[in-house]
Amino acid sequence: MKPSFAIVGCGRVGNALARYLTEAGYIPAGFASKSLTSAKRAAALTGSFNFTDKAWEATLKADIVFITTPDGTIKEVCDIIAAKKGFRPDSVVLHCSGALTSTILLSAKDCGASIGSMHPLQSFALIEYSHNPFSGIITSVEGDNKATNAAGLIAADLGSGCVTIKTEAKILYHASAVVASNYLATILNLSLNLMREAGVPEDDAFRGLKPLIDGTLSNIGKMGIPDALTGPVARGDIQTIENHLREIGSKTPHLLHLYKVLGLYTVEIAKKKGTLSDTAIEAIKNLFMI
Ligand SMILES: NC(=O)c1ccc[n+]([C@@H]2O[C@H](COP(=O)([O-])OP(=O)(O)OC[C@H]3O[C@@H](n4cnc5c(N)ncnc54)[C@H](OP(=O)(O)O)[C@@H]3O)[C@@H](O)[C@H]2O)c1
Repeated sequence: MKPSFAIVGCGRVGNALARYLTEAGYIPAGFASKSLTSAKRAAALTGSFNFTDKAWEATLKADIVFITTPDGTIKEVCDIIAAKKGFRPDSVVLHCSGALTSTILLSAKDCGASIGSMHPLQSFALIEYSHNPFSGIITSVEGDNKATNAAGLIAADLGSGCVTIKTEAKILYHASAVVASNYLATILNLSLNLMREAGVPEDDAFRGLKPLIDGTLSNIGKMGIPDALTGPVARGDIQTIENHLREIGSKTPHLLHLYKVLGLYTVEIAKKKGTLSDTAIEAIKNLFMI
């Protein structure tokens, strides 16, 4: 039989865990949130009526406790449950923050529980899903042995792969995830701004750029980043780069700095690709120097 679980903080991640853990055979023990409405909604996803706004009531019967409140309140919520003796000594307490370590759950450890973090590398923007958002992703786990073992099994049952992260490496790990997810949006925004300046409506621009993005991702997956790099920097096309810089500087000067910083970084990738002469590398670098 699979373990029982409780969710404290029934938002986007809490709801996804509630639904897909239940589908994987885990037994819903209780749901708690700041608002009863949120707790009730998560419980309903699992067919359970065990919902409350008192976290320690939801956690007492659970083998696994997920604290999926916003990062800034996880420790406080954990401390309150511990003070109310809401953790079973044989339980595993997990949070899902990418940036924070398991050490913020020390009050649960003081109650005898095992503690860990289990971060699904996924963007949860919805409350309900038409498909399992954990399927095919990577979940990183960190914490004590019992907690990381339990989190690894949970990740597998949810359809995720699993990597173990050292506690001291979590901040860099999270910075990496921010670059891949959030800064991808930033770079796409830069691209769409340039398209708008070129007179292409945003919807058409995105429709046009998406296959380019998908193709690039696919190429990176197949050949790695240096070999997948195409375009004027990789070709050493100095005239085209000069034209870009002149036009961006004249039409959208506020975007020039970001374009140059990204270009400078791209030269380093082109160097690894090995298609540029030393002279071309220096010339392109000089163009991008801020
Ligand atoms: N969203 C993502 O893409 C994502 C991805 C990976 C990991 N995570 C991590 O997952 C965790 C949850 O993020 P989320 O995006 O699911 O947040 P969210 O949608 O904002 O949900 C957080 C939930 O916690 C409830 N809550 C807030 N304070 C509380 C308290 N003191 N006691 C009990 N419940 C409380 C909220 O209130 P109500 O009861 O009022 O609704 C809300 O339902 C975070 O650690 C985050 O870093 C998020």
